[in-house]
Formats: sequence, structure tokens, C-alpha cells
Amino acid sequence: MAKARSVYRCAECGHDHPKWVGKCESCGAWNSVTEEAAPVVHRAASRTSGRRAVEPPSRLRDIAESRLVRWSTGLKELDFVLGSGLVPGSMTLVGGEPGIGKSTLLLQAAARLEAGGRKVLYASGEESPEQVRMRAERLKEDAGAVHVIGETRLEAVLDSAASISADVLILDSIQTVYTDLLEGAPGNVGQVRECSARLMRYAKETGAAVIVVGHVTKGGGIAGPKTLEHIVDTVLYFEGEATLDHRLLRATKNRFGSVDEIGVFAMTGHGLEPVPNPSALFLAARSVGISGSAVTALMEGTRPMLVEVQALAARSGYGTPQRVATGLDQKRLSVLLAVLERRGGTSFADLDVFVQVSAGVRLNEPASDLAVAAALVSSVLNRPAPPDSLFLGEIGLGGEIRPIGGLERRISEAARLGFHRVFASERTAARIPGLTIVGLEHVDQLARALAA
Ligand code: TYD
Ligand code: MG
Repeated sequence: MAKARSVYRCAECGHDHPKWVGKCESCGAWNSVTEEAAPVVHRAASRTSGRRAVEPPSRLRDIAESRLVRWSTGLKELDFVLGSGLVPGSMTLVGGEPGIGKSTLLLQAAARLEAGGRKVLYASGEESPEQVRMRAERLKEDAGAVHVIGETRLEAVLDSAASISADVLILDSIQTVYTDLLEGAPGNVGQVRECSARLMRYAKETGAAVIVVGHVTKGGGIAGPKTLEHIVDTVLYFEGEATLDHRLLRATKNRFGSVDEIGVFAMTGHGLEPVPNPSALFLAARSVGISGSAVTALMEGTRPMLVEVQALAARSGYGTPQRVATGLDQKRLSVLLAVLERRGGTSFADLDVFVQVSAGVRLNEPASDLAVAAALVSSVLNRPAPPDSLFLGEIGLGGEIRPIGGLERRISEAARLGFHRVFASERTAARIPGLTIVGLEHVDQLARALAA
């Protein structure tokens, strides 16, 4: 078994094949299999390091509570998405497109962790220590005490962290480091996988919290094998549009917390600031009194968040009309259009349809169906939705409007922001002072509701 000199590894899923194949046997990806040197040295090394004294297992109730601590990063929104702070001995991956603010976020967290008494090593393979310092000078927080090293050799990074007994090791980025144990350039599948596994082992062995930055590829995944996401405890994505100031941080995997929570930041001239009231931000640029706009309330984890859905239906030129959805599933849009056409009597046959959501936000629950439908009907009829109204409901294939979960929390948030009217399923029983709930049974009532 150990005779093989090379392995043929899939860049998508990390599956090893005995010989080169055009299509991965495990995940079915095409042209993703490349030849790599087998990590012979590493196998031997890991075997020796594996010969530590084995701790006897403990009963759950005997596990000391002191081992369940969390370290606050000092950034409330980051703590929130992590599930109330960093877990010692854990590994977190922060992914995002270049320029979105990953390095800034982590440098701010590093400064605050240091201020809170944790020793932090910020290892950058992307920037020199001078460049990191230049960035730090723009920030509000004083990052002066943070330890910095400009290094791409993983062994050097780990030695450096060990030499100061770092509580927190931040590595920016996983694609720039390499281990001596493997051939191959930094960023290649084998290197990313091996370095991640070593970092994870370092976290578990020393109790340090390790945070690594990972760049996102055009497809939206983190460059390198999927196994990277499988290895780490927590995966956070930092998203936003370069042209807009706000950034969304969300967890897509979290062994120590919920994956639904999102944190909202604004990029300012002196670093990232948490946005305490995201709904107000998302609604600030809302087009009140214009047709094709409807507001809904999403549940992002435990927090309700109000967003605007915009639709534009315009006479199409030639050929097949376009259907363009930004921030919601294209298929869901097709379903809603078909339901409105067949059950609601609103035709989109010769119309191009464009739907978009407050920048960066995704509608991923059916509760926003009614808002999408309302925006579409409003655009076709050129009839604005009543001011200060909210749309909450799932739409079935028969055109029926169904009640949704978490209604009370959503409409309380709406009431707080000055909304007076909620269009929802007529089977909705919630009562909130100052809010009128307008019950709708079927999408064919939407046109009339908009005229109300
Ligand atoms: P950066 O953290 O370098 O992004 P990433 O590590 O994800 O590639 O952020 C880069 C952008 O943020 C850059 O365009 C400059 C901007 N920025 C500010 O607007 N204000 C600031 O205080 C800082 C430090 C950066
Ligand atoms: Mg960076």
C-alpha cells in the first residue's frame, strides 16, 4: 500500500484514486483529478507524534466546566455568529472574496483579544508585517500588542505560535502556506489539506484557537478541497458587494453554535463597525411609493431582519422572456411566476422579469414568497404596495397562502420599525398592538390588497 509514489486526488472532494481518471469516482466532478506526491514522510512523522500518553476517558458529567469556556473576540457580531465567542482548541475557517475585509476583521478581533488578555499571533503569508501595521494604523482599536509574523512555512508559523504560547493563532491565508513535508506549491489540494490537518492537530493539542482565512473561488466555494470545510469546526463566510459598505458574516458550519445567525458590519474608514440595527440599514434605500417593491421579514437564526424585495416586469424584446433572480433561487421565482399566472390571473407571458433583494441578503425561506409575489404583481399593475406594509406568507402550488413560523418575532420587529400593516395568511392568529393583520387566503386577492 505504501508503495505508491503518487496519488491522484480530486480537487473538489479530496478523494484519492489509484490512477488518473477524467471523472472523479466519488463526487463525479470532471477534470478535477490531479497527480500529487504521496505524503510518505508525513505518515511516519504522524505515527511517532501519535505515541503520546493516552488520557483515560471521562464521564460527561465529570468534565470540568472550566474546559467549556469561550473567549470573546470583543466584536459582538463575530461572537454572535461564532455562538458567543471562540472555543479554545477549535479551528475556524473564515472564507470570502478578496477585498471583502477578512484580514481587517481578524486584525480587529486580534487587537481586542489581546486587550482582553489573550495572546494572539497574526501570521500573514499575504502581507509583510509592515503592511499589517499600516492596516492596523487605520483601525480604531489599538493592535500594538498583537504578535505578527510574515511567514508562509507552516512549520515556522507553528513554532512561532508555540514560542509565545499563543492562545489564538490567526493564519492569513491557508492558500499561502505550505509544509516542508509535501512537495507542491502552496494552495494546491494536498498542501491545503495537509496544512489544515496539522493546524487542527495543533489546536487540539495546545488548546489554542486557530482561525484561518480561505479565499473563495468564483464558484463561491473555498479554494482547495471540500475536505478543508470538513476538517474545521466552524466555517464562516464574509460576504457583501465591493461597492456597498455593509458586510454579512454567516456561519455555514458550526460545531459550537447555530448556523443560522448572521452578523452585519459596515466597512468604514477605520475598519469594520458592527451594525446594531440591520433592518433599518436594509430598508434605508427603500423605494417607498414605487411599484414593484415589497418588504418582508426573514428569520436569520434567532433574529428577525426586514428586507426589501424589488421586482421589475418589463415588455420583452425578442425571443424567450428573461427571468433574472438575484438573492433568491431562480427555480423558486419560476414556481411563483407559474402560480401567479395560473392561479392568480396575472400574466407574465411577454414580460422580462427581474427580482432582487436588499444587497447581499438571500431569501432562503418560503415565508418570503408572498413578498416576492406582491412585488411582481405590484410591478405588473404599476400599483405600489400600501406604505408601511409587510408581506409574510408561503405560497402553495394551488395559489393558497400559508401561515409561517416565527410570525410574532418578525412582526414585533416590523412594529418597532414603524410598520402598521401585515399581509399574511388568514389563518394567522398573532396579535400585536399597533399592527393590523390583513388575512389573505389566495394569491388572486393580491391585486385587490395592493389597492387597499
Ligand atoms: P481586507 O481586509 O484586506 O480584505 P481581504 O483580507 O478579505 O482581502 O479589506 C480590504 C478592503 O477594505 C480594501 O479595499 C480597503 C478597505 N478598508 C477600509 O475601507 N477601511 C479600513 O479601515 C481598512 C483597514 C480597509
Ligand atoms: Mg486579506
